[in-house]
Amino acid sequence: SGVWAVIPAAGRGRRFGGELPKQYLQVAGAPLIAHALDAVLSHPAVQGAIVVIAADDPHWPGWTQRAGKPVHACIGGDERADSVLAGLQGLPREVAGDAWVLVHDAARPNLATGDLDRLLATALASGDGAILAAPVRDTLKRAGSDGAIDRTEPREQLWRALTPQLFRRDVLARALESAAAAGVAVTDEAMAIERVGGNVRLVEGREDNIKVTTPADLALVEFLLSRRADAAGA
Ligand code: CTP
Ligand code: MG
Repeated sequence: SGVWAVIPAAGRGRRFGGELPKQYLQVAGAPLIAHALDAVLSHPAVQGAIVVIAADDPHWPGWTQRAGKPVHACIGGDERADSVLAGLQGLPREVAGDAWVLVHDAARPNLATGDLDRLLATALASGDGAILAAPVRDTLKRAGSDGAIDRTEPREQLWRALTPQLFRRDVLARALESAAAAGVAVTDEAMAIERVGGNVRLVEGREDNIKVTTPADLALVEFLLSRRADAAGA
């Protein structure tokens, strides 16, 4: 039994701005979402993907296959967690409840194969799941209510959560349902699993696996993806 991918792509990109949702912006010859989708589908362990899109999305190209693997689509919700849950529920019936599912942002186009390899190896070996993450590099300041520095926070054990995040289908669905029922807003999949006491492993990933959030990020991924294409073509 292989791994399936859930690609949340139902966001509106408010922080990015503009008419076209950021996941559909062309970078290095393809929309961001194509880069994100192909990065996961090109891994031999990944069997197929479901893309979660907004209800009124006229931009979804309607792919049913990429990299020779099936691509499904379903409608997401108001929050990212709602969209991921919809994706888990929309996976084909052949995908078992205990199958591993990886969740990867449509707006994160520069996932390296090596990172995905190590994530899969770690999650499948032990624990309730694993996520790619990067250690915090900057010094962290806690602000007081007056906007001045209150104190400096130790960063030694702090990580930035990236995607993909890998969990078993039913475990993640139940954890997301539980958070929703409790009215807790979870900002990534791991947070839902942590809430119910799950053991989620951190796998150090590349810092250039960036999520496009603002227009400045777009120039950076254009550079990274073009450089990768040059290396492949050389
Ligand atoms: N996402 C989703 N459903 C939502 C919100 C977000 O599927 N209700 C997806 C986005 O499309 C994106 C990923 O989750 O691929 C990461 O979210 P984010 O970067 O926050 O994207 P947006 O929510 O679109 O951007 P913003 O928060 O600036 O509006
Ligand atoms: Mg968002």
